[in-house]
Amino acid sequence: MKLSRSTLLLIFGVLVLLVTCATSSPRNVDDFIQCLSNYSQPSNPIFDAIYTPENSSFQSVLLSYIRNKRFTTQFTPKPLAIVTALHESHVQGTVICAKNHGLEIRIRSGGHDFEGLSYTSYLYFVILDLFNLRSININLADETAWVQAGATVGELYYRIAEKSKEHGFSAAACPSVGTGGHFSGGGYGNMMRKYGLSVDNIIDAQIVNVNGIILDRKSMGEDLFWAIRGGGGGSFGVILSWKIKLLRVPPIVTVFHANRTLEQGATDIAYQWQHVGHKLPEDLFIRVMPQVFNASQDSQEGKKTVVIAFIGLFLGQTQGLLSLLNESFPQLGLQQNECNEMSWVESTVFWADYPIGTSINVLLERPKQPVVYYKSRSDYVKEVIPKEVLESIWKLMIKGGLGWMQWNPYGGRMQEISESETPFPHRAGNLFLIQYGFLWMEDGVNITEHNIDLSQALYDAMTPYVSKSPREAFFCYRDLDIGAATDNATAFQKAQEYGPSYFKGNFERLVRVKTTVDPNNFFRNEQSIPTLPKYK
Ligand SMILES: Cc1cc2nc3c(=O)[nH]c(=O)nc-3n(C[C@H](O)[C@H](O)[C@H](O)COP(=O)(O)OP(=O)(O)OC[C@H]3O[C@@H](n4cnc5c(N)ncnc54)[C@H](O)[C@@H]3O)c2cc1C
Ligand SMILES: *[C@@H]1O[C@H](CO)[C@@H](O)[C@H](O)[C@H]1NC(C)=O
Ligand SMILES: *[C@@H]1O[C@H](CO)[C@@H](O)[C@H](O)[C@H]1NC(C)=O
Ligand SMILES: *[C@@H]1O[C@H](CO)[C@@H](O)[C@H](O)[C@H]1NC(C)=O
Ligand SMILES: *[C@@H]1O[C@H](CO)[C@@H](O)[C@H](O)[C@H]1NC(C)=O
Ligand SMILES: *[C@@H]1O[C@H](CO)[C@@H](O)[C@H](O)[C@H]1NC(C)=O
Ligand SMILES: *[C@@H]1O[C@H](CO)[C@@H](O)[C@H](O)[C@H]1NC(C)=O
Ligand SMILES: *[C@@H]1O[C@H](CO)[C@@H](O)[C@H](O)[C@H]1NC(C)=O
Repeated sequence: MKLSRSTLLLIFGVLVLLVTCATSSPRNVDDFIQCLSNYSQPSNPIFDAIYTPENSSFQSVLLSYIRNKRFTTQFTPKPLAIVTALHESHVQGTVICAKNHGLEIRIRSGGHDFEGLSYTSYLYFVILDLFNLRSININLADETAWVQAGATVGELYYRIAEKSKEHGFSAAACPSVGTGGHFSGGGYGNMMRKYGLSVDNIIDAQIVNVNGIILDRKSMGEDLFWAIRGGGGGSFGVILSWKIKLLRVPPIVTVFHANRTLEQGATDIAYQWQHVGHKLPEDLFIRVMPQVFNASQDSQEGKKTVVIAFIGLFLGQTQGLLSLLNESFPQLGLQQNECNEMSWVESTVFWADYPIGTSINVLLERPKQPVVYYKSRSDYVKEVIPKEVLESIWKLMIKGGLGWMQWNPYGGRMQEISESETPFPHRAGNLFLIQYGFLWMEDGVNITEHNIDLSQALYDAMTPYVSKSPREAFFCYRDLDIGAATDNATAFQKAQEYGPSYFKGNFERLVRVKTTVDPNNFFRNEQSIPTLPKYK
């Protein structure tokens, strides 16, 4: 009998619960909450921040920062408590009290973790939720800002634009992504070819360490400051805030979203893009998105096709863009009427897929609960994929029915930064980053397994055409199937698989930093940085 992955996970979960029941029980949570009372502030009483299942809004607080319905089922393990820190002292207290009372913590900022690691665990755990710590202080005079970890990137873009139309930042296209998880994972956006990643523009940070002490860049030292800029916050401490460099943008930028069908030669255009996307001037970013659609509105049942969207941001005006493309990428055939000029902050709304003219106030919205199920994975491409392979990939996507891919061009600033500058190692030599996305709305274990199987089939089919030894993956696109083949391995053994995939040669330095700052591995999750094994 072959057991499915989720069944195995379930059995594993039950086993872990049985084993841990012997040493730690929910009773600890009372002690934990008692302990927290020491960390109350007169102006921010800690009991206003603590939710247990007895509080009527426990469920809605839990759901507010879950973005993937895959982790809202009856099988999803639930926290014993959620601490929605209102003050830095609440963060310090949660770390100290959880550690002293044998509870694991999961740190949550925006809740976008693809595998739900910021709010699930198979051990007794509490969620340390940072959504209330969201202040943003812009200092235009020295072109910097302090951003708390619970602020979203959309809020950051909005607050920058309130102060200046000629500044922006290099981070995610999705406004609700939290800066806590996004920056600490090395997050990127459509200005990465010009300015590098978010982490390439971070100049200071505040973190609560395993002893509950608040450190800044100076007091944490350069090793730890290096590690939290891409190595994943969840392994080293709780990030409270970031100091970023504001980045200059022109007052008018140009965006486009050009669909091309297979009949219009989309395959040839995508093939050509592989040659030029990473070589274009760094003011231009063109994302390619092959997507499955119904062949036509009134076609017979089930007839599907692939449409490829070419989505662009140009840090300049339409005429400049058109003449540049005429020279370097005429195959796209971009028309003037496909281009739209707007301010940079408006372009972030466009990139978030809102219709043109939508108010920038949507950048401040925070979804209340998840609406879709998804599974995403990633790959790096270093050699052009042949045309006939592209055609076979479209066929596979059509067979799967629901898949889409995002191809994100590298080159430009990305290839100038050395692999070891930050933990994020995927720099020179990459043509593009692929994200594979499988989204579905229907409830049920079967449909989930079906989609996970489809994502695996597409991932397997891509093996010959993507990076090897290690097969690289983007840490912010967390994927628990990396390293999952070794189900019975120790955490340290498993880390030898996902570690090099996410961090290449930087993994060893991350392990050394981790061993120094958190030797007992308090800050951990299924894919955290391990400590060096202890030898007697
Ligand atoms: C719809 C969507 C769009 C996305 N678009 C992009 C994109 O354009 N570019 C890109 O690079 N990525 C993108 N991502 C991926 C995103 O960058 C990661 O999921 C990121 O980790 C999310 O951060 P978060 O704070 O929202 O998530 P969370 O789930 O809160 O956290 C993610 C991880 O970081 C840890 N963590 C969170 N906050 C802290 C903290 N304060 N201190 C220490 N550890 C912490 C968590 O424990 C968890 O392990 C997208 C994800 C989604 C779902
Ligand atoms: C915190 O509170 C607990 C229970 O209220 C108490 O026993 C303990 O001494 C206090 N101090 C610290 C530092 O935990
Ligand atoms: C949750 O319930 C406890 C016990 O009634 C209470 O002290 C606490 O303030 C409640 N939490 C919130 C956030 O209201
Ligand atoms: C691109 O195609 C998709 C699917 O047909 C459609 O939803 C979208 O509105 C199109 N966008 C534009 C700008 O034509
Ligand atoms: C696509 O076709 C399916 C039937 O195969 C239908 O249920 C669905 O509504 C169609 N979607 C669109 C956007 O036309
Ligand atoms: C495109 O380039 C050709 C020659 O290479 C030129 O004749 C044409 O005017 C250019 N078009 C635009 C819009 O720049
Ligand atoms: C789910 O799959 C199992 C076995 O593959 C099958 O027996 C069962 O009927 C399916 N359930 C539904 C609701 O489709
Ligand atoms: C896992 O267990 C199987 C069977 O017990 C064994 O063959 C395999 O070598 C183990 N793998 C690892 C990585 O320990």
